[in-house]
Amino acid sequence: MPGHIVQTAPIPGQKPGTSGLRKTTREFQAPHFLENYVQAIWNGIGGVAGKTLVLGGDGRYFNAEAAQVVLRMAAASGAARVIVGQGALLSTPAASHLIRKRGTDGGIILSASHNPGGPEGDFGVKYNGPNGGPATEEVTDRIFAATQAITDYAMLDAQDVDLSTLGETRLGQMVVEVVDPVADYAALMAEIFDFEAIRALLARGFRLHFDAMHAITGPYAKAILEDTLGAAPGSVVNGTPSPDFGGGHPDPNPIWAKELVDRMMGPDAPDFGAASDGDGDRNMIMGRGIYVTPSDSLAVLAANATRVPAYADGLAGVARSMPTSRALDRVAEALSIDCYETPTGWKFFGNLLDAGRATLCGEESAGTGSDHVREKDGLWAVLFWLNILADSRASVADLMADHWARFGRHYYSRHDYEAVDTAAAKGVMDALRARLADLPGTTAAGRQIAFADEFSYDDPVDGSHSAGQGLRVGFTDGARLVIRLSGTGTVGATLRVYLEAFVPGPEGLDRDPQEALAPMIAAAEALAEIATRTGRTAPDVIT
Ligand code: G6P
Ligand code: ZN
Repeated sequence: MPGHIVQTAPIPGQKPGTSGLRKTTREFQAPHFLENYVQAIWNGIGGVAGKTLVLGGDGRYFNAEAAQVVLRMAAASGAARVIVGQGALLSTPAASHLIRKRGTDGGIILSASHNPGGPEGDFGVKYNGPNGGPATEEVTDRIFAATQAITDYAMLDAQDVDLSTLGETRLGQMVVEVVDPVADYAALMAEIFDFEAIRALLARGFRLHFDAMHAITGPYAKAILEDTLGAAPGSVVNGTPSPDFGGGHPDPNPIWAKELVDRMMGPDAPDFGAASDGDGDRNMIMGRGIYVTPSDSLAVLAANATRVPAYADGLAGVARSMPTSRALDRVAEALSIDCYETPTGWKFFGNLLDAGRATLCGEESAGTGSDHVREKDGLWAVLFWLNILADSRASVADLMADHWARFGRHYYSRHDYEAVDTAAAKGVMDALRARLADLPGTTAAGRQIAFADEFSYDDPVDGSHSAGQGLRVGFTDGARLVIRLSGTGTVGATLRVYLEAFVPGPEGLDRDPQEALAPMIAAAEALAEIATRTGRTAPDVIT
């Protein structure tokens, strides 16, 4: 082996979460931390000898250095080829597409998604499998086991590879192929959507505003929305990726994308507004004067899917994560297709997509996607909306009003309590869990509780079982309360409270969500005792 073996020992805290290993940048920069984890990935997937991998990241601080480490370690362990996005950049959906298109053995994505970047921010490493999707739990369990058993890692002795120039070079015996990070992805989007119709929409004077939040989607959005589809120059804002995302928090929700919200709610708002996150897989959708919740967005995409060329023959089925509102279920019922309910985490959609059981999936956490890749896809969702708007010639507000009139409205909101004391957060969960069995038949928020349980999932494709996926309390009128601990936070615990209330209409479809959900918010406090147990009287983030 053209390199050397470094002796090491297991480092605590290397258990992959909802989406790979996500830690503070400082932790990742500590001696052996990154190297241990990368070697554990190799060990957990049966080695990389002779394999081809894709590599790229969202451009955050430490991205470039980490990419070089991954390359040296892949070469030292005998990988045949690594396909890298130019500048070590790839959006998460573009990486997923590249893995699939090139038929590789998987890939490494360097990102902490929507978490802030920089020396004081977060970093992350995720392994995706040959289907292009996040590693299944079985694989992440093996990787975790490998982190606990590690004794050494293999490192090539070499200089950094030039990742700024397209083409092939060698690193030891391994081929490093630097590719344009945008081209293949842009071509895929052109295959899926009716670009002519979107071009015509924009030519009719339809104005769009896309906020790339100083993150990875800037170059993708400029190439596709402005250069290809003809959106006015300047339609893409904050479009140059920066290592610390301009000092911001690249999470497309009403709190962190406030600039966009203000624009869309203000005078002279454009017709359509959208944003994506650090690594390009999340999306936020707005129309003039209206915010579309991710759960509603998913339902609208499903209801209008046949307007899009790639889905013109209809959807095989749809899927949503458990905490996502049941707006999707109503559409699926009307379309007579299956609707799957999975635990939080995109990896759980992989088997359904691979097996052709679901075409479209989504999560309340601003993720929507389809079988075109095995990740959620921010720009794809934006293009999906533009295709629908072009075809229907309706405004976002009209489209939503029509949707609610037809299916009823699932008022929905998520309240997050961040960096909560871990023991206190666990106490909230344990106390409510202990009460679940006694809840059915009792009332809360003036509503009767129909069921209360802890969600677990049996994968219908591979039969795997995932327990402990969130506590849920359902009411007889269709309202629902879900509480779970986030699997992506890096400091303390993040407690998520998901609130949902269903209004069949025609009355009451036009209320303010926080107001419509006020009784549910009170019920959540009564049932979970968050204020008394954690000392927090208000959520940090409301989406
Ligand atoms: C990431 C995952 C999603 C997940 C989200 C929230 O974005 O890719 O699948 O829904 O995190 O996860 P959390 O465990 O923090 O609620
Ligand atoms: Zn992301």
